[in-house]
Amino acid sequence: SHDYTEYSAPVPDLSAAELAEPGAVTIVVPTFNESANIRQLLHRITESVPSRLPCEVVFVDDSTDDTPEVIRDAARDCPFPVTVLHREEPVGGLGGAVVEGMKTAGSDWIVVMDGDCQHPPSLVPELVATGERSNAGLVVASRYIKGGSRAGLAGNYRVAVSRGATWLTKSLFPRRLHGISDPMSGFFAIRRSAVTADVLKPLGYKILLELAVRSRPRAVSEVPFVFEERFAGESKSSAREGFRFLRHLVGLRTASPVARMVGFGLIGATGFLPNLLGLWALTVAGLHYVPAEILANQLGVAWNFVLIEHLLFRDRRAHRRWWDRAGRFALLANADLVLRIPLIALFVHRFGMGALSATALALVTTFVVRFAGTEALVYLP
Ligand code: GDD
Ligand code: MN
Repeated sequence: SHDYTEYSAPVPDLSAAELAEPGAVTIVVPTFNESANIRQLLHRITESVPSRLPCEVVFVDDSTDDTPEVIRDAARDCPFPVTVLHREEPVGGLGGAVVEGMKTAGSDWIVVMDGDCQHPPSLVPELVATGERSNAGLVVASRYIKGGSRAGLAGNYRVAVSRGATWLTKSLFPRRLHGISDPMSGFFAIRRSAVTADVLKPLGYKILLELAVRSRPRAVSEVPFVFEERFAGESKSSAREGFRFLRHLVGLRTASPVARMVGFGLIGATGFLPNLLGLWALTVAGLHYVPAEILANQLGVAWNFVLIEHLLFRDRRAHRRWWDRAGRFALLANADLVLRIPLIALFVHRFGMGALSATALALVTTFVVRFAGTEALVYLP
């Protein structure tokens, strides 16, 4: 089942024989209100892809304007099949759209490119040829190797953001991104067999990063390219997209249980801030320190709950209502606090431990129990 409307241009789909030809390619283009760029893009693809190379173009469109109609119209003049999948519910943004398009691909190679002509279609045959020659699963068009550049990245601010994001991402995934100089690129070729659609959780713009980390194509090659100016219109990126990217990074980095436990601990540590601030405010307001401690702790618990909900367990929230999850989470967090003292006493009196090591062990024990409890009792059905 799928959640889109499909429109096809008059040129018939590629035949089985054409799809089987080496170098046959499905070009996937995500579009959001790009009607002024479509004709130019299809024109450049027509010029670039030699007629002997079987090629089909799949637009995955989340537009609120007339982009799908413009595509259908422009497709009449194309020598290759053009399909538009229009999504009414744009799940996953740009990345979600690309995955939807990749699932429909019939050829061995898929090329993903933007719809605003910032990615030169003339490079499509070279991306695929490089992949065939080097037996790679993924070929990245990179702005950061010799011969490439980011001419079209307007302004020092965007350049700095792009640099910082690339550096951060490469440091977070040194192994998975080995050999990929431009993990933020939106222009690449990937073998259909390398796309493991069922493990992907695309979230926003960085679909190449998602594929590199979760699908792990066996070998990667790069080809330099010049990131051009947009042909028409403006970038659809926004501050909201920036936050989505940070969430995407956290999601990728905490895919394993051990990494998730580390994330849980880091978020827990940030809870000290609201906790201490609350304690300060309440005691200044004249409250006795014991009820102040108890109340301030709830502030830390609430803070942790919000962060954990949005960063760590985003895709596991469907099993319970939010207040059910909040209640269970608060119960676990407070039980942790209540149980710590008797646990320390047990370690000291029964096992003869020193006060300091008993406290450390109790902290670690309650932390692990709280993490396991949160996984099993709050976020699992
Ligand atoms: N279907 C769909 N849904 N398409 C989208 C969406 C969406 O929510 N958001 C954007 N697009 C489409 C745009 O219409 C365009 O065709 C393409 O995705 C890229 O969007 P831009 O808004 O032009 O992106 P950009 O130029 O700021 O960023 C590009 O370059 C970056 C490198 O600097 C993208 O390729 C990024 O992925 C890349 O990191
Ligand atoms: Mn763009």
